[in-house]
Amino acid sequence: MSTIYDVKAEVAADTLLDKAGYEAMYRDSVADNEGFWKKQAAIVDWIKPFSKVKDVSFAREDLHIRWYYDGTLNACYNCVDRHLATKADDVAIIWEGDDPQRDLKITYRELHKRVCRFANVLKKLGAKKGDRITLYMPMIPEAAVAMLACARIGAVHSVVFGGFSPDALAGRIHDCESNIVITADEGLRGAKKIPLKASVDAAAAHESVTTLEKVLVVRNTGADIEWDAGRDHWLHEMEAEVDDDCPCEEMSAEDPLFILYTSGSTGKPKGVLHTTGGYLVYAALTHKYVFDYKPGDVYWCTADVGWVTGHSYIVYGPLANGAITLMFEGVPNYPSASRFWEVCDKHQVNICYTAPTAIRALMREGDAPVKKTSRASLRLLGSVGEPINPEAWEWYYHVVGDERCPIVDTWWQTETGGILISPLPGATALKPGSATRPLFGIQPAIVDSEGVELEGAAEGNLVISDSWPGQMRTVYGDHQRFVDTYFATFPGRYFTGDGARRDKDGDYWITGRVDDVLNVSGHRMGTAEVESALVAHPQVAEAAVVGYPHDIKGQGIYAYVTLMDGVASSDDLRSELVKWVRKEIGPIAAPDLIQWAPSLPKTRSGKIMRRILRKVAEDEFGNLGDTSTLADPGVVQDLIDNRMNRS
Ligand code: WTA
Repeated sequence: MSTIYDVKAEVAADTLLDKAGYEAMYRDSVADNEGFWKKQAAIVDWIKPFSKVKDVSFAREDLHIRWYYDGTLNACYNCVDRHLATKADDVAIIWEGDDPQRDLKITYRELHKRVCRFANVLKKLGAKKGDRITLYMPMIPEAAVAMLACARIGAVHSVVFGGFSPDALAGRIHDCESNIVITADEGLRGAKKIPLKASVDAAAAHESVTTLEKVLVVRNTGADIEWDAGRDHWLHEMEAEVDDDCPCEEMSAEDPLFILYTSGSTGKPKGVLHTTGGYLVYAALTHKYVFDYKPGDVYWCTADVGWVTGHSYIVYGPLANGAITLMFEGVPNYPSASRFWEVCDKHQVNICYTAPTAIRALMREGDAPVKKTSRASLRLLGSVGEPINPEAWEWYYHVVGDERCPIVDTWWQTETGGILISPLPGATALKPGSATRPLFGIQPAIVDSEGVELEGAAEGNLVISDSWPGQMRTVYGDHQRFVDTYFATFPGRYFTGDGARRDKDGDYWITGRVDDVLNVSGHRMGTAEVESALVAHPQVAEAAVVGYPHDIKGQGIYAYVTLMDGVASSDDLRSELVKWVRKEIGPIAAPDLIQWAPSLPKTRSGKIMRRILRKVAEDEFGNLGDTSTLADPGVVQDLIDNRMNRS
């Protein structure tokens, strides 16, 4: 039994909700779901008010999800323009550079001007409402400005994480048929230069990229780059030619706001599509309550805008709430392991939201780098992206937060648009490792493998029984894939792909993915993607990839590789394959361990038995379960004898 931390007494005095407040609000949200969401939609400004709140069916044959669908609004207006009346000179974005000497504060007035000019540049490049614009950006203010500029003119942004390879970028440009890519000359992370423009050039040269017309380049490091005069444009040159006035496009609530590619258990990454009205309401509302955000608070989410956390909790949620949002270009351990906490002191951060992998990496450096900083401004800590192990939670709570700051362990997904399960500070008793309670309107359930709902304390598959405004609407260009991925396994419910346990108090503990999706340092990665990168290598015949527990990354990538006949295995080939995967997908997909497997364990019908591969990778081969269905049981002993992860 783990400790329960009831930090309520210390913090509840002035939190937005207390326990009774949360419980009443949750009850209302379920009892009268439409009435609740009708009222909460006032958190954003509408151009034309909606009269219809919700039109949802989770039935496979008739799947549709619409919220506020006869209303109109503009997301950029809500994040920028509407704050000008009362807080034009308040800071909107604090930017902290990779180099600790570099930072910048941008007020709402300045943000407005920058966004308008950027939007006019996009228009000059030919961008129109509905166009898909790909962003491949470092963590600089222009990334947020570009997203907002797209939203302003009704273009749909697709942000691709700057750590993805040119091939991965090309696949995403191709899938959503982007006509414009926005990038920078280079990015900077931990004093390392990331050649973004060169990667865009390589992606553009890919034969599948046929729609790309213009590349807009932000001058960031000033590096020399290749230039295609007909295609490439400098932002600073074009900005000098446009004015500050750019009206907001009136968007229907169900018009797309963005596409974000994410990995699934099979096939290529999916373009998760979010629309405007419901997404913004949900991002703003959850940002306000989960982070107990009050005017003037300095809020820092350490994610990259290339992931959904950056979309909802660096840009859209905080800015819709008129918050001060901090954007950090660098990494947790540069120039030293004190960096995160130095940033907190320097900018007087009140709320800090980061990932377990960062916490574990910093924890390994000991307490001293933390303790030499003050952190007195911190009031609340957050965690996201993967299950947080109780040791990391305790360290975050005791050492970083000085036992003063509640931790919100927020569970959600790219698909959910915003946080679905999380404690609320001052309202929820905390348990290290538990995401605790559903937020307003969220109806989680646990079902067994047959889809039977389990009551009370139980463990199984996590599903959500009803829609919420921030839910994804479709997979871009492939609605059937949306239906099949999320609504086919357990009919009538949204299947999260996660396993969970509910304890006797009703608190949820996320146990991790139950499908073939890996979570490496909080980054989602499909085993199928890594496998297809490996088999694309001329010397690889077959590959199977599984996850295994990794001290820092949460999960590591373990690859079993069968080489082509006549190819000799060697350590050189091993490093070559790691390099190959980095090039094909990106560094985050690089296998940690590669085992040479003369053959893979398969059933008589040729299906790879991943259960066995997982056990061997976990170094838990004592209990392999039933192996009688294997075509060749002898394969297993060879795998065990040559396993790479020995404790
Ligand atoms: C995992 C990130 C446990 C989970 C916002 C989910 C978590 C996947 C938590 C989504 C958490 C995220 N506790 N697991 N607090 N937060 N996950 O789409 O497996 O990048 O399905 O969205 O991360 O990852 P994604």
